[in-house]
Amino acid sequence: AIKCRIGPSILNADLSQLYQESQRLLDNGADYLHLDVMDGHFVPNLTFGHPIVKCLRTKLPNAFFETHMMVSNPEQWIEPMGEANVDLYTFHIEPVLSDVLKVCRKVKEAGMKVGLALKPGTGIEAVRQYIDHADMILIMTVEPGFGGQKFMQDMMPKVQWLRQNYPFLDIEVDGGVGLNTINACAEAGANMIVSGTAIINSKDQRSVIASLRETVES
Ligand code: DX5
Ligand code: ZN
Repeated sequence: AIKCRIGPSILNADLSQLYQESQRLLDNGADYLHLDVMDGHFVPNLTFGHPIVKCLRTKLPNAFFETHMMVSNPEQWIEPMGEANVDLYTFHIEPVLSDVLKVCRKVKEAGMKVGLALKPGTGIEAVRQYIDHADMILIMTVEPGFGGQKFMQDMMPKVQWLRQNYPFLDIEVDGGVGLNTINACAEAGANMIVSGTAIINSKDQRSVIASLRETVES
C-alpha cells in the first residue's frame, strides 16, 4: 500500500517558539511539517510567510516542509518558498482556476513538489484535469482559516473517489482530524494526515501521532 505520513500543523502551537515546537513534533514522530500560510484575503486570518519559513529552514535543514498556501495569489510566493527549500508547495485551485497548469509548472521549476488543495465547496471535477500534473491532492475537511474546527465527514466521498481512481496518488486531509475522525479518513483512503489541535493540545504528542499512524496503516 501507499506510504502513510503524519504532518502536524503548527498553526495552533506557540508560534513564539516555532522552532522548538517544530523540533518537538519531529522528535515525537512527525513525518513532515504542515506550515499554514494565510494572507488575510483568501482566508479571514493571517499567519506567516516566506521570511519565517526561511528562518525555520536554517534551524531544520533536513525536515520535510509543506507550505499550505491559503493565499489569493499563489504564484507570487513560489520563488521565495523555493529559496526556503520548501519540499511541497500546496496551493488552492480556487483563486487560479484558469492558471492551474501554469502555477504547477512554476512550482516544479522552483524545485518543489506540487499539491493542489480544494476547499469544502469545491467539487472533485474542478481538479480532475490537473491530477496528472500534481504530486498530491489536499481535500480540506474544514473551511480553511482556523484550527480547531469540526471535521466535515461529508468530504470523504471526494477522498474515496480519488483513491478509487488513483491508487498511488498522495491524498491529504486537513481540518478537524484527530483520534475521533482518523478512522473515516483512513477508510476513505487518505495517506497524508494533517492534524493540528488534536496533536498540539495533547499532553502526549508521541502517542497521538503513533495512534493516527496506526489507524491509517492498518
Ligand atoms: C486550517 C488549516 C489547518 C489547521 C488544522 O485552515 O489549514 O491546517 O491548522 O488544524 P485542526 O487539526 O485543529 O483542524
Ligand atoms: Zn492547513
